[in-house]
Amino acid sequence: MARVTSDSLPVRALARRIPVGRAPGRRFLLGLAGPPGAGKSTLAQRLRDELAAAGHPAAVAPMDGYHLRNEILRARGALERKGEPDTFDAAGFVADLRTLRQAPIGEPVPWPLFDRAVDEPTEGGLIVRDEQIVLVEGNYLLLTDAEAPGWSAVRGLLDACWYLDAPREILTERLVRRHIAGGRTPDDAEVKVRDSDLRNAELIAVSRGRADLTLSAAGDGYRIG
Ligand SMILES: Nc1ncnc2c1ncn2[C@@H]1O[C@H](COP(=O)(O)OP(=O)(O)OP(=O)(O)O)[C@@H](O)[C@H]1O
Ligand SMILES: [Mg+2]
Repeated sequence: MARVTSDSLPVRALARRIPVGRAPGRRFLLGLAGPPGAGKSTLAQRLRDELAAAGHPAAVAPMDGYHLRNEILRARGALERKGEPDTFDAAGFVADLRTLRQAPIGEPVPWPLFDRAVDEPTEGGLIVRDEQIVLVEGNYLLLTDAEAPGWSAVRGLLDACWYLDAPREILTERLVRRHIAGGRTPDDAEVKVRDSDLRNAELIAVSRGRADLTLSAAGDGYRIG
């Protein structure tokens, strides 16, 4: 039995909020936005598992795979800023979201994944084919071009978009731990979180109010609002 606090919903109840039959004949795209370290990838996988158990196969399509390659970032002098909106291929992401919506179900749509071990994307790391539901997860799904050029078109390609939030202290702790696991010294990890991740989190927070639903983790489940 899942441990759930009194005001939190189990993931199964959240999965039931996804209107699986609402886009007959084409895919239903649900966005999961939020700051780095909020738990978007984890929630996407948990929702995918719940949907699969309920007979609705879903794919998780992360925004991470649209990171520009390190070689390109280095040439632009932007390697240290990796993770900011302009260090992603927003146009490629938008084009592939459009393909996901338009391609007939059953036709393969390649989707890049991000390999944290080598810190680079893998082209076609995922093939979306038979899944009618796609959980699109990433930081910048709800930004407008005024905040970050190239990102406005994303929202119109999503059927709905949820926002997963977490307190700044929790984000900090998780991100420092991740950077250390990735090979940074504790000091470097703290600098990266302060000067980069949390700055990105502030930009993302501006888009929170545009979400259809705002969530935060509570116990083994998630609280709405
Ligand atoms: N509900 C939760 N309760 C406790 N820990 C969690 C929860 N969700 C995620 N985590 C942990 O927080 C860390 C970050 O989670 P995750 O990788 O899913 O975040 P993210 O939002 O996808 O981050 P990023 O934007 O950097 O990709 C992981 O170590 C994960 O195990
Ligand atoms: Mg993630």
